[in-house]
This record gives sequence, C-alpha cells and structure tokens, in this order.
Amino acid sequence: MADGLISRVFIFEGDAYPILLEWRLSQSIAGALMIIRDEQPTDLDAIRAITSAAFAQVPQSRQTEVAVIDSLRAAGDLAVSLVAVEEGEVIGHIAFSPVSIDHDDDPRWYGGGPLAVRPDRQRRGVGSSLVRAGLQRLAELGAHGCVLVGDPAYYQRFGFRSYPGLTMPNVPAQNLLALALGTVDVKAGNVKFAPAFDVGAS
Ligand SMILES: CC(C)(COP(=O)(O)OP(=O)(O)OC[C@H]1O[C@@H](n2cnc3c(N)ncnc32)[C@H](O)[C@@H]1OP(=O)(O)O)[C@@H](O)C(=O)NCCC(=O)NCCS
Repeated sequence: MADGLISRVFIFEGDAYPILLEWRLSQSIAGALMIIRDEQPTDLDAIRAITSAAFAQVPQSRQTEVAVIDSLRAAGDLAVSLVAVEEGEVIGHIAFSPVSIDHDDDPRWYGGGPLAVRPDRQRRGVGSSLVRAGLQRLAELGAHGCVLVGDPAYYQRFGFRSYPGLTMPNVPAQNLLALALGTVDVKAGNVKFAPAFDVGAS
C-alpha cells in the first residue's frame, strides 16, 4: 500500500465505472467522492477548460489538445471519452480513439489521450483512475490493446512500455508506449493516430 493511502472506495453510479480511489493523506478532501462516467453533452465546456488548463502546464505541449478532442468527436473517432466527476464537477478527462499499426485498420487497437486532470485536483489518483477505467472499457470493447505517446515514468505503472519496432514519426521511441489488453501481442509497425491528431502538425 502506498504511503499516505487512507482508503480505497469502489463506487457505482449509473453507467459509471467502479473506481479505485487512492486518497492521499496530505491531499484528501474529507467527504469528497469521485465517479468516472462517459462524457455527456453538458460536459464539453468543462472538458475543454480542464484540458486547456492542464496542458498549459506542459512546456512541450502545442496547446492543440482541445482541438484534437473536438475534432475526434466531430469525426466520430472519440471511441471512449470518460470524465472524472467530484461533487458534480468534472475534474478530469481521458479520450481513446482508433489507431492503425502498420497500415492495418484492425479497429481493435486504440490510442490513448489526451488525458488531463484539473490542476487543483492533480496528484490524488484522478489520472490513474481515468487510465484504469479507460483500459477496462477498452478491454470490454474487445480491444487488442492501447498505444499512447507519453512519459514512461507515469504510464509504466499501468503496464505500458515501449516496444522495439513500434514506431511513429517524430516521436522518440521511449515515449511511444503500448499495452496489450487481450491475447494478441503488441505488433511492430508504424502507428498512425486518427486524423484529428494532425491538427497543428507541421
Ligand atoms: C499527467 C496527469 C494526467 C496525471 O494526473 P494526476 O491525477 O495528477 O495523476 P495521479 O494522481 O494518478 O498520479 C500522480 C503520480 O503521477 C506522477 N506524474 C504526474 N504527471 C507526471 C508526468 N508528466 N510524468 C511522470 N509522472 C507524472 C506524479 O509524480 C505522481 O507520482 P507518485 O504517485 O509517485 O507520487 C496530470 O498531471 C495532468 O493533467 N497533467 C497535464 C497534462 C498531461 O501531461 N497529460 C498527460 C499527457 S501524456
């Protein structure tokens, strides 16, 4: 059990996912409970605001994440879009969309991200809960696995790692991470995310 972990709570609400909350002693808010559920039309402004605020902290971000999410949704490529809600407020969001690997359009590979947690709610397990709930959803959809571009120091805790032969233009090998969710191994090849990710690409 991690230092400072004071409780773990599974919560169901409607279509919401059972989530594992890891409240850290130094950052917990007494009585605050969180659920994770599919995005609703009324969540879109909050998703945009959270994503914008979270990525404003990331120097290497080109601040295109809000446009990417909106474009994914408009194109019908937002396969899974989950929000974390605490006391009626959306405090985090994660998106998943189809990817192709090596020109294979098998729809059972998904790209993870963007992932964002409202800055004042970071480092309390919200991001981890969103990732785990999203991976659970992908597994239920019959996904072979998930690929994302991110920091291995964060994503390795969920089982993501880099794979030799898995490539993506302009992405360092150590930041292209994948996780198999079924019985099929992560295969080698070039990863192509949905066209929405081309927004702002040079
Ligand atoms: C990354 C992010 C989603 C994590 O959400 P979170 O709710 O703060 O994360 P959790 O509480 O589940 O996990 C916190 C842990 O992740 C680590 N962590 C957070 N961001 C990290 C990062 N970019 N790289 C490495 N580790 C990171 C923290 O150090 C902490 O580690 P610890 O458990 O050893 O103390 C959130 O910080 C965020 O929105 N960042 C800005 C947007 C972003 O970078 N998105 C991800 C792009 S790949």
